[in-house]
Amino acid sequence: MYELQFRFKDLGGFSCIRRCISEYIRQVLPEEGCMMDVAVNEAVNNAINNGRRSGEKFITLKMRIMNGNKLIIRVKDEGPGFAARRTVETFSKQGSRLFDKGLLDESGRGIKIMLTVADSILYNRIGNEVMIIKRVPAAIFPYIPTTMRREQKMRG
Ligand SMILES: Nc1ncnc2c1ncn2[C@@H]1O[C@H](COP(=O)(O)OP(=O)(O)O)[C@@H](O)[C@H]1O
Ligand SMILES: [Mg+2]
Repeated sequence: MYELQFRFKDLGGFSCIRRCISEYIRQVLPEEGCMMDVAVNEAVNNAINNGRRSGEKFITLKMRIMNGNKLIIRVKDEGPGFAARRTVETFSKQGSRLFDKGLLDESGRGIKIMLTVADSILYNRIGNEVMIIKRVPAAIFPYIPTTMRREQKMRG
């Protein structure tokens, strides 16, 4: 499977690879790449701020195209996680009212931003990995590297 993977420890490490990640996102999402970039930054900030409480731990960011038409970005830390699924469920129920309250709050916007930008977000059971899923526009498909399309054909 064709997947890009980055490992870093802190904001300094992330800043070294950030441009590469942004470029990839903007290529597959020309319209909404900018917003997706913000969503990914929120996921990374959460991993950095909450996932490294005890000692030096890594954050892993993975990106791939699934079935030739979905961008999948995963951000995983090695921390204890949190009750993420409950949080996402609560926010999801708020639908378009998501930002009615709390938009100006100092904290608590990251997950809301991810939910707004992505088609869906999923957390693993313990809440230390988030998966951001976004459909890639059909017009972009011919530009997805052939290695990815070949995999798609073999499976299809
Ligand atoms: N990777 C994570 N590990 C542990 N807790 C997390 C993680 N991501 C988010 N959280 C928890 O969810 C809360 C809400 O996250 P978010 O919506 O990004 O707002 P903020 O980061 O501004 O508090 C965080 O305050 C934190 O308690
Ligand atoms: Mg946050």
